[in-house]
Amino acid sequence: MARPAAALRGGSRARRCRAAGRRGGAGGAGALGLVSVQLAERAYPVLIGSGALQELPRRLREKAASSAAVVSDSNVAGEWGEAVVAGLTGVGIRSQLHVVRPGEQAKSLSELSGVLDFMELFGLDRWGVVVALGGGTVGDLAGFAAAVWQRGVRYVQVPTTLLAMVDASVGGKTGVNSKRSKNSIGAVWQPLAVFSDLTTLRTLPEAEYLAAFGEIVKYAVSLDRDLAETLRLQAPALRERDLTALESVVTRGIELKAQVVAADEREAGPREVLNYGHTVGHALEIASDFAIPHGRAVAVGLRAAARLGVECCGCPQSVVEVQDELLAAFGLPGDLPPVRESEVLAALPRDKKAREGRLRWVLPRELGKVQVGVSVPATAVERVVHEVLS
Ligand SMILES: NC(=O)c1ccc[n+]([C@@H]2O[C@H](COP(=O)([O-])OP(=O)(O)OC[C@H]3O[C@@H](n4cnc5c(N)ncnc54)[C@H](O)[C@@H]3O)[C@@H](O)[C@H]2O)c1
Repeated sequence: MARPAAALRGGSRARRCRAAGRRGGAGGAGALGLVSVQLAERAYPVLIGSGALQELPRRLREKAASSAAVVSDSNVAGEWGEAVVAGLTGVGIRSQLHVVRPGEQAKSLSELSGVLDFMELFGLDRWGVVVALGGGTVGDLAGFAAAVWQRGVRYVQVPTTLLAMVDASVGGKTGVNSKRSKNSIGAVWQPLAVFSDLTTLRTLPEAEYLAAFGEIVKYAVSLDRDLAETLRLQAPALRERDLTALESVVTRGIELKAQVVAADEREAGPREVLNYGHTVGHALEIASDFAIPHGRAVAVGLRAAARLGVECCGCPQSVVEVQDELLAAFGLPGDLPPVRESEVLAALPRDKKAREGRLRWVLPRELGKVQVGVSVPATAVERVVHEVLS
């Protein structure tokens, strides 16, 4: 059984969350790790480890997939696309690859339209499966296309970035960006399974790899102080992409996400904890026209939120220090392209978690524990945003 998250112990959320994630040997998956996302009839497995990708064709055959529409971006397709299509074709599943632009530009209505056109021309029927092969952007785009094509077809997530493995591939949030805000057009649509193959990280550029630690530190500081200690001790091994260290951190991240998602699939309450660091993070992404990668923007957002936690939630200053050190151990936030402070502040109210224009901040109270729905005076926000961007 999954270890309960430190911050989730006790209380009703703890009991629901404790039952949510399960880890053990994956049937037929050799030494792969398995976390089960417990969502009743929508429950699904997350396979983790080197070789998870090899499981994909067999598992899709078991699910009687008639065909597979593989969606990837131009960077990932070049490295892994052919192997995935060949594996699926090899077990008799008619498959074709569709390539989108890399990065946040993939999450647009025009790319969505291209993916839907592809599905139609390919003849993806309701027994077909969409394979989202790539980072969080491809997962969000292809997952949303699956949610709306034929009013919903099945899809699997094959995350190829560390960020998508620990976070974006699990939980069923899919979507694209509108002209002015992130993730504002979307659906909650759970995948059939997630295949997190750590060997795909071999080809991931260093900056993208390190950016993922923005989300991983988020989990540690908001939910699991033991994970914070693991990150501190294992930082050198993780920076070297040591597979043993990586597998344990990826598995823990997925367990935490699975617990939160199982407790609150549609973000009616507890799932809000996952937005820790994302209020300023999303605003920064928008203000930089997405020049700052998501994980790096979240790292800045974490720095802002921790400082606001000290001001507004009685959080000890030591949390700011521990978090700053953890982020720095992974080169975060690092040098950022110039961004206008006023544009970051202007982008804040467009965060989709705002209720009637009032932002609901997620702020730390202590290491491993956050408070959701906090109101913060505008002057404090301005001061802290200035501090973290200076
Ligand atoms: N749905 C969710 O719950 C959720 C959660 C967190 C983040 N997200 C979203 O995820 C997105 C960020 O995802 P990301 O950080 O994975 O970025 P990404 O998908 O843009 O990938 C980063 C870059 O790495 C390249 N790449 C990916 N895998 C590679 C590989 N194995 N080898 C070589 N190059 C590779 C991509 O082409 C891209 O250029 C954001 O849009 C964010 O909003 C979604």
